[in-house]
Order: sequence, then structure tokens, then C-alpha cells
Amino acid sequence: MTTADHFAELATRRSVVVCCGTGGVGKTTAAAAIALEAARRGRNACVVTIDPAKRLANALGIESLSDTPAEIAPAIWDPAGTSTGRLSALMLDTKSTFDRLVTRYAGDEDQSRRILDNRFYRNVSGALGGTQEYMAMEKLHELHAEGGYDLIVVDTPPTRHALDFVDAPARLLRLLDNRVFRLLMMPTRAYLKVASIAVQTFLRTVARVVGRDVIDDVVAFFRAFEGMEAGFRERAAKVQELIADDETAFVLVTTPRRDALDEAEFFAHRLTDHSLSVSALIVNRVHPSFTDTPLTVLHAEAERLAADDPARAERYRALAGLETVARHERAELTRLRERLAHADVVLVPLLAHDVHDLDGLATIADHLFGARPLPPDTASA
Ligand SMILES: Nc1ncnc2c1ncn2[C@@H]1O[C@H](COP(=O)(O)OP(=O)(O)OP(=O)(O)O)[C@@H](O)[C@H]1O
Ligand SMILES: [Mg+2]
Repeated sequence: MTTADHFAELATRRSVVVCCGTGGVGKTTAAAAIALEAARRGRNACVVTIDPAKRLANALGIESLSDTPAEIAPAIWDPAGTSTGRLSALMLDTKSTFDRLVTRYAGDEDQSRRILDNRFYRNVSGALGGTQEYMAMEKLHELHAEGGYDLIVVDTPPTRHALDFVDAPARLLRLLDNRVFRLLMMPTRAYLKVASIAVQTFLRTVARVVGRDVIDDVVAFFRAFEGMEAGFRERAAKVQELIADDETAFVLVTTPRRDALDEAEFFAHRLTDHSLSVSALIVNRVHPSFTDTPLTVLHAEAERLAADDPARAERYRALAGLETVARHERAELTRLRERLAHADVVLVPLLAHDVHDLDGLATIADHLFGARPLPPDTASA
């Protein structure tokens, strides 16, 4: 099987693809392009995006944050009408996903009101570190269990801590097991009896810093969650299972710059530490190479033409500049390929424009899935 076949398997066989990588490399673009390709190949695909560029969101029909996927009319993404697939998109709204979880899993309306009206909850539900990652996981779990999709492609937030997304369920489980948390979750009386002096001292100290009100809100918040903990625990465990399952693939997105490639390698190792592996590496925004002519020759040619034909000389200079970048990138890529020998590497060229509509996504998908390869010397580097 060629790399393109391997990569195609992500869109045709897997049921979950997670696109991760550092900020700005093209995760959202790649996720949408993979979902588009799956739909073009006849599957019912959904992309869960996080903070897409406004114009792309527009093109996908998801300009407002929402909690349920919107189906994109086939006429838009399949103008020839040849596919039987379906394509949906969702822009994850952390706060409304969290709210809906509360409403859905609370014991009764009173409990959900107590949580939703809690000041601490209102302040943190959208902003708490890791909440976005965790809610993306909850959404994935929900769509996977109930959405009826063949493939869900998940975009991940730009995070400085590369694995926040993968760690989110485990972190929640750790929080639920935390002693202070367990005490906070106890009904008031039992809590007062059991709360050790250490915990009370801790809370008093915290109260001095952040104010008694905040502590009261926090305690009330955790208490309001009583009975819902088991559900969170169960779903977190299921999500962990789903992530580790063979039907799930991790796609690492990077650019050919050294810092991004180093991060990608680090990320790949961290996934391995979690017994997960990178199925494919997308190197996005690669500068194509147009010639094998040595750079010295291109520069010499520019010098030679400078006096008689300055316009032509300038073109040689520009070509030499481009080739310098392209060759540097290829050298970096060769290094990375040696170090990540097991992952398929797919290259996507730097396009002349941002990718903000379905045509742009189709072009990216064509490159990803081999319909439009880069010039051979670049692709084989
Ligand atoms: N191959 C490409 N050629 C040209 N522009 C591209 C290409 N891939 C992505 N872009 C553009 O680069 C920008 C960043 O892409 P994208 O939003 O997909 O990155 P991201 O990794 O999701 O970013 P963030 O970490 O901020 O979420 C977008 O404007 C997108 O249109
Ligand atoms: Mg993004």
C-alpha cells in the first residue's frame, strides 16, 4: 500500500480521527478536509471544529456556536452529485456543551438550576483550564454514541500543553478521586464531621486570598454536582477507551519549520507514552521545489543577467530565494522522517490563499489523499 492508500484508510475505515498539533499549523483546515473526503467517499461524516476562521465557519454553515451539528447541503460540497455521503459540521461551544451536560445529567431541574446559576460555575465553565479539551471529549463521546456518524473528525484547541486533549478525561478522573474534592462533594453534615483540620485550614487560607464568597460558591458548586459524579466518571472512562481503540486515529499536523517539527516529534513521543500512536503526520504549507539546479548556479545566473536583463535577473533571485526555503524544508523533513519512521507523512503545499471555502478544502483534501501530489522531487524528499 502506498502512503496515499494508508492515509485514505483514515477517511474510509476509521470512525474517529483526532487532528492535533501546535497553534496555527492547520488543524482545523485538515480536520474539515478529512471529513469532506470521507463524505466524498460515501460516508456520513461530521467535523467538530474549534474556533475556525470566520470565513471557513461561514462556508461550513456554522457561523454561530452551537451544540448540535449542522448538515451541509450536498450541492455545496458535492456539486457533481456523485457521492452518497453526508457532511456535517459543528463549532464546539464549551459553555453550551457544559450547560447541556448539566441539564441532561442532573437529577432534576432544581439541581441543574443550582449548578447553572452558581456564580463559580458561570465564571469557570467556559474558561477553566482544560475545560475546552474536556468538553470536546464529551462531545466526541456523545456524537460517537448517538450521532449515527460513520466518522467523526475532531479538531483540537491550540494548546501549549500538547496533550491536554488526550489527558482531559484522566485529569477529570483524578479530580474526582482527589481527597479535597471528595470532601467538598459530601453532604454538609458529613463534610463537617470528616473534613480534616488540614482541609479546613486549606479552605480558610484560600478564603483569605480569594474571599469567603468565592469559597462558598465553589463549595456550593461541587455540592450541587452530587450524584452526577458517577456519570462524569463513567463517560471519562469511555472516552479514554474510545481514544485508545483501533477505530480511532491520531493525525499530527505540523508545518515544515524546525520549531513546529520539533514540537510534532515531542507530541508523537508523548502519545507513545500514553500507548497511543500517530497514524499519520500532515506537513502543511510546504513550499514546493521547482528545480534541481544548485543554488550557486541560480545566484550566478542572476549576477550574470543583472546588467542586461534586470527583470530576468530578479526572477532568478526570487527562484533562488524560494528554492532556499524549499530545500531547507526538505532537509528538515528528511530528519523528521528518519525519527518517526512508523508514521505516514503526507505533504500539503502552501496555497496561494487562505483556506476559507469548500473549494479550498477540496484542494487540501486532494493533496492529502493523493489526487494532487506535490512535484515528485518534493514528495520523495
Ligand atoms: N496549505 C495551506 N495553504 C495556505 N493557507 C493555509 C493552508 N493550510 C491552512 N491555511 C491557513 O492557515 C490558517 C491557519 O489554519 P488553521 O486555522 O487550520 O490552523 P489551526 O492549527 O487550526 O490554528 P489554531 O491552532 O489557531 O486553531 C488559516 O487561515 C488557513 O486558512
Ligand atoms: Mg484551529
